[in-house]
Amino acid sequence: MNFTGLLARLEGTALSPLRDFVSHGRLARIRHGDFRRLRSLVDELPRLVPSVTDFGARVMIGSPADCDEQAREELRRLLMDFAPWRKGPFELFGIDLDAEWRSELKWARLDGKIASLDGRKVLDVGCGNGYYCFRMLGRGASEVVGLDSHIPYVMQFWALKSFVPEAQCWVLPMAMEEFPSGSGHFDTVFSMGVLYHVRSPLDHLLQLREALRPGGELVLETLHVEGGEGYCLTPRERYARMRNVWFLPSIATLQNWLQRCGFSDARILDLSVTTPAEQRSTAWMPFDSLADSLDPRDPARTVESHPAPARLLLAARRAA
Ligand SMILES: C[S@@+](CC[C@H](N)C(=O)[O-])C[C@H]1O[C@@H](n2cnc3c(N)ncnc32)[C@H](O)[C@@H]1O
Repeated sequence: MNFTGLLARLEGTALSPLRDFVSHGRLARIRHGDFRRLRSLVDELPRLVPSVTDFGARVMIGSPADCDEQAREELRRLLMDFAPWRKGPFELFGIDLDAEWRSELKWARLDGKIASLDGRKVLDVGCGNGYYCFRMLGRGASEVVGLDSHIPYVMQFWALKSFVPEAQCWVLPMAMEEFPSGSGHFDTVFSMGVLYHVRSPLDHLLQLREALRPGGELVLETLHVEGGEGYCLTPRERYARMRNVWFLPSIATLQNWLQRCGFSDARILDLSVTTPAEQRSTAWMPFDSLADSLDPRDPARTVESHPAPARLLLAARRAA
């Protein structure tokens, strides 16, 4: 986990306090049971040098010709030790890493519909293993900072990044709530698949706003439900078998939240229903997936009888 390039970029900005976090702060105190194992695994990865990378049309690092079959098998075995891989797909030196989510489908729903990322500083909150961070670089972002609170996903990112150390993206093992507030540093902030996981969604929106420069763009993706302004579903217990789902707003409620939190010009980019073609078990994520969370007699409902997952993507501007 090398943050030298990031710290050099942030020197003298409102985000320079991240230096403490990285050098002797929380990073040194990470107690996640798997952190040490995964960090050693990153060090064990073969030192392959990619002759080619492509983050524009897919996330591809290295061609099959960059290593022999033995090195590829060794790499495949080590990457499997980072499972479950939730986000992908990745193509690595001829290995097709087929993750639970076909994340390229979500990217296609927003690609070309948001402000150009060319030369922009981007924050990706809840970035998981950084699949979209790479896609953002592929659209010209000059700097991508990802945040995720789940250590195993963060370590997947660092496994991938070990093959492209020069890539201008970094993922911090950090929740948005811990990120220095009020920086106004970023031109574009993404929060995809996070809003319903936070217990305080309006605070989350305010934190996203504070990370953006005035006029900067928020790209927000979330689950939503049918209903009028003010309506919001708070599951009694689980939603699609997940315990950590708190608020599923209607579109009108979400628009109201955005306006109250200092965003303007909200525009819906896409509405879609998640299907088992997009989220499913694979060799790289062999556990239960979406199909196991839907009512087998009525796939329009979850096993708890809530409406099945419907997602929206929107863009909005930080009001001045
Ligand atoms: C459903 S996944 C979405 C991943 C990716 N953004 C996407 O759209 O596919 C939610 C991610 O957000 C992370 N997360 C949840 N709450 C967070 C928070 N408060 N700060 C940072 N990350 C968070 C989780 O660890 C998880 O990786």
